[in-house]
Amino acid sequence: MQDTNLAAVVNTSQGSYRVLVGRDIVDDLGFELRSTGLRGRVFLVADEVMFPNPIRRAQEALERGGYETHVLALEIGESNKNLQTVEIVYSWLADQRAERGDILVAMGGGVTGDLVGFAAATWLRGVPVVHVPTSLAAMVDSSIGGKTGVNIPKGKNLLGAFHQPKLVVQDIGHLSTLPPREMAAGWAEAVKHGLILDADLLDKFERFTPQLIKLEGDAPVEAIRRSVAIKAEIVSEDEYETGDRRVLLNYGHTVGHAIETVSGYGKYLHGEAVSIGMMAAAGIAERLGMIDSELVGRQRKVLESYNLPVTASGLRAEDLINATKSDKKSRGGTIRWVLLDGPGQATTRRDVPDDMVLDAVEAILR
Ligand SMILES: NC(=O)c1ccc[n+]([C@@H]2O[C@H](COP(=O)([O-])OP(=O)(O)OC[C@H]3O[C@@H](n4cnc5c(N)ncnc54)[C@H](O)[C@@H]3O)[C@@H](O)[C@H]2O)c1
Ligand SMILES: [Zn+2]
Repeated sequence: MQDTNLAAVVNTSQGSYRVLVGRDIVDDLGFELRSTGLRGRVFLVADEVMFPNPIRRAQEALERGGYETHVLALEIGESNKNLQTVEIVYSWLADQRAERGDILVAMGGGVTGDLVGFAAATWLRGVPVVHVPTSLAAMVDSSIGGKTGVNIPKGKNLLGAFHQPKLVVQDIGHLSTLPPREMAAGWAEAVKHGLILDADLLDKFERFTPQLIKLEGDAPVEAIRRSVAIKAEIVSEDEYETGDRRVLLNYGHTVGHAIETVSGYGKYLHGEAVSIGMMAAAGIAERLGMIDSELVGRQRKVLESYNLPVTASGLRAEDLINATKSDKKSRGGTIRWVLLDGPGQATTRRDVPDDMVLDAVEAILR
C-alpha cells in the first residue's frame, strides 16, 4: 500500500496509530495489520448490515495477511448498544478462547466501533482493536480518538473507556450502501471540521459539492482525509479533553444535543441535530459581533447543499434552553459555547447572555 492512503497519524499516551483512507483499501487489511506489528488471531465483529460481501472481503483480506480470522456478525444499533450485546461478544470470545495477544476488528458504524471498542478495552483487561468504520460519521469522527462506550437505561454512553485503536482503515467504497440521510449526517461532522479549523476544507466542501455527494473522483477521498486529519490533530493535542482543543469539536453540539433530547432520540439523526445546532451557534456568534451575516449565510448554504436541516420544527425554545443547561458540557452553571470567530476559526465563550441564546435558538425554530 502506498503512503498516499495515510490520512493521519494519531499520537496518544497509549501509542501512535495510522488512519488510512482510500478506495478498496479493505483489501489491504491483513497486510496493514501485519505492518502495524499485530500478531495473534483476529476476531472480526461486524454490523450485520455489512453481511455478506463486505464482511467476506475483509475476512479474505485478513486471511491473505496470514491471520486466522473468526467472524461475528450482529445486528448492532443504538437500541442495543448495551451490556447485553457486549456480553454476546464476550461469550463468543470466551468460546473461541480469545487471548491477550489476539485482535478485535470492529467493522460498522459508530455504534459498532464504540461497542466493540468497549469490549476490546475490557476483554482480559484490554486487547488490541482495529477500526474499519463503514459510516461517514464513524470515519470522520468516532473511529478516531479512542472513546468507546455503551448505553445504560439511565443514559447514553455512560459506560466507557479510552481505548485507542492500533490502526484505522477507512474504505470509501463502503459508503456506497450508506442511506442518504446517514451520509448527510456524516457530512455535518466533516463540514464542522472545516468550519472550526480549516478554511480551505470549508472551501473544498463548497466547490466540490456534487462530486462529494456522489462520492465521485478524488475530491471525496481528499475531503474525508483532511477531515480525518483535523480530528486526529485535535485528539493528538488534547487526548482526554482536558485542554482547550478537543472541546472545539463540540461546535453545534450544545443545541444539537438539546434538540436530540427534547425531540426524543430518533426524530433527528445526530448529524442533523448538529447541523441545526451549528446554525444556532452561528446566530449567537453573529449577535456577539464575532462573525458577520455573510459567514452565517455561507454556513447555512453549505449545510443545505449537503441536504442537512438548518431549522427545527415542533420544538419550544424554552425546552431547548433547559436541555442545554443540563448538558454535561456545562460545568458550574455556565455553558461553554463553541463559537466561530471567522471561517475555519473557532473559540469558546462562557459569557453569552441568556437572552441572546434565547434569541438565537428562536431563530432556528419553525
Ligand atoms: N467514540 C466517539 O468519539 C464517538 C463520537 C461520535 C459518535 N459516537 C457514537 O457513534 C454512534 C453513531 O454512529 P453512526 O452514526 O455511525 O451510527 P450507526 O453505527 O448506528 O450507523 C448508522 C446506520 O447506518 C448503518 N450502516 C453503517 N454502515 C453502513 C454501510 N456501509 N452501508 C449501509 N448501512 C450502514 C447502520 O447499520 C445504522 O443503521 C452513536 O452511538 C454515538 O454515541 C461516538
Ligand atoms: Zn457529533
